[in-house]
Amino acid sequence: MSTHKIAVVGGDGIGPEVTAEALKVVDATGVAYERIDYDLGAARYLRDGVVLPDETLGEWRSMDAILLGAVGDPAVGVAAPAGLVERGILLKMRFELDMYINLRPFRLPPRIDCEVIRENTEGSYAGEGGFLRKGTMQEIATQGSVNTRFGAERCIRYAFEKAMRTERKSLHLIHKKNVLTFAGDLWQRTFDIVAAEYPEVTTGYDHIDAACIHFVERPERYDVVVTDNLFGDILTDLGGAVAGGVGYAASANLNPDRTGPSMFEPVHGTAPDIAGQNKANPIAAILSAAMMLDFLGENAAAERIQKACESPERYEGSTTDIGDAVVAAL
Ligand code: IPM
Ligand code: MN
Repeated sequence: MSTHKIAVVGGDGIGPEVTAEALKVVDATGVAYERIDYDLGAARYLRDGVVLPDETLGEWRSMDAILLGAVGDPAVGVAAPAGLVERGILLKMRFELDMYINLRPFRLPPRIDCEVIRENTEGSYAGEGGFLRKGTMQEIATQGSVNTRFGAERCIRYAFEKAMRTERKSLHLIHKKNVLTFAGDLWQRTFDIVAAEYPEVTTGYDHIDAACIHFVERPERYDVVVTDNLFGDILTDLGGAVAGGVGYAASANLNPDRTGPSMFEPVHGTAPDIAGQNKANPIAAILSAAMMLDFLGENAAAERIQKACESPERYEGSTTDIGDAVVAAL
């Protein structure tokens, strides 16, 4: 088998620390890979103004995966627009490399075992909108949401396929179709059309606000969930919070067609307040690396890591202690 080519972006804040632990665990599984490190993130931007060069993006196109820690720093927002680095790196790679699925699993036995499938290339994230008369009392700001039949359908299809591989075979669409009558209508109609091809899957629909209550009060309601980009962003932070904390929440930005690499990153951010103190929980990064191995076909190694992360008493201690404990548990 050929060696997997993996781009590694530790990034900012706690990103490099948790990524180091994730790679330590990957190394311990014995899976062979070629690692190429990239110095990108807010620190790099503040140093020399580089966000994500086209050349780098070009190199990534021929790689198998990108393992990312976290990028961003509030300091960027002082000299440049807030979120410049996050958009310029994360969103750019999601869009340019067509990582149209953002897969975020949540597990906290006995009540939580669900996977949120977030559309990752459209919606409010598409950047549609602008200002008119900026800075005046008559200022107008619009921010559109781009929803294509193609984009919704490929995401919904992926979700049905996912649901077929679960025990309950249950899939909920989450949106706000009572108010977002155009986008919601497109999503629901597309969902219904695809559903006809999957008679074994039990389907449901919840509004996003109600889904937030269900996530907290009866998370066992959900098996596989599919939703748009912004609702998925918000719902997966909530998912992390209810399933033991965002320190355990892993994610995969998938290009299921494999026309480019997929990217794996914890749901959490850079946590600058605890950066460099060996305090961050690396489990989310380690589980993201397990998702990466799974996607690369290293299913046995992925499963070993997942099992090793399961025992809650191993989650105690410093960043490096937890990494060591997971290695020991492999
Ligand atoms: C996430 C993050 C990003 C998003 C930000 C950093 C742009 O919150 O991956 O959930 O909104 O998608
Ligand atoms: Mn988010």
